[in-house]
Amino acid sequence: MLDHATFCVEAKGAVSAIHAALPDTFSVCRSRAMTKAQDLAKKENVMLRRTLSKMLVLVAILPVAASCRASGLAEAADADFYVCDGCDAVGERDPASLDWNVDLASHLEPGERLVLSGVVYQSDGQTPASDVVIYAHQTNAEGRYANGSSESVWSRRHGKLRNWVRTGPDGRYEFRTIKPGVYPSRNDPAHIHLFLAEPGQPPYWIDDVVFAGEFGVDDKYRQSRENRGGLGIVELERNGAGKWVARRDIILEVHPE
Ligand SMILES: [Fe+2]
Repeated sequence: MLDHATFCVEAKGAVSAIHAALPDTFSVCRSRAMTKAQDLAKKENVMLRRTLSKMLVLVAILPVAASCRASGLAEAADADFYVCDGCDAVGERDPASLDWNVDLASHLEPGERLVLSGVVYQSDGQTPASDVVIYAHQTNAEGRYANGSSESVWSRRHGKLRNWVRTGPDGRYEFRTIKPGVYPSRNDPAHIHLFLAEPGQPPYWIDDVVFAGEFGVDDKYRQSRENRGGLGIVELERNGAGKWVARRDIILEVHPE
């Protein structure tokens, strides 16, 4: 009988293995399309059944993995503190070239204007943290990471709406952008991804910025958060110019030893 922690680790491993296997499976299916039609029908049928079987296993395991993360993986999260999808993008700009405020979306980008700003504090929650690079990326108003450039894998995957700031001596930062849309699949709240890089430290992700009272930001969502970097759920208000404004202060995490 596996204890809970071991079970969670093995379930996580199984999910990763299935994720890794699925693209190959689909790739084989695609390559078979070049063969004779009769063989194709047979082989694709087999591959499709195998793929569906793997997906069924994945669907069965994912809730278990999620519950593990929510209930008992605080220690595991520490071990994986710097592991994240997209952290490499933080280093795509020289920190010395960055300002504390920037356009994340140009004035030509369709959508409702939003100014996201705040102060980054040291882990004591009181001392402003200077020279912290913040990388942000988000969907467009249609909920898509669209029109990325060819600069890097992250510029393609994260789409056009991405940019970097570096906090000033007062810890302040500001992104001028648009309100992101909900994914077309409507399986997550509208959000802005944030990543941090402190001087001399590897980058890490913090909780997404999401908007209180909007689609998907309910009690279940709140309870699922790690509150990395502090609370990511922000209040939206209108300023005098009719723009949405949101304040998200950030508290730096304590790094693993
Ligand atoms: Fe996202």
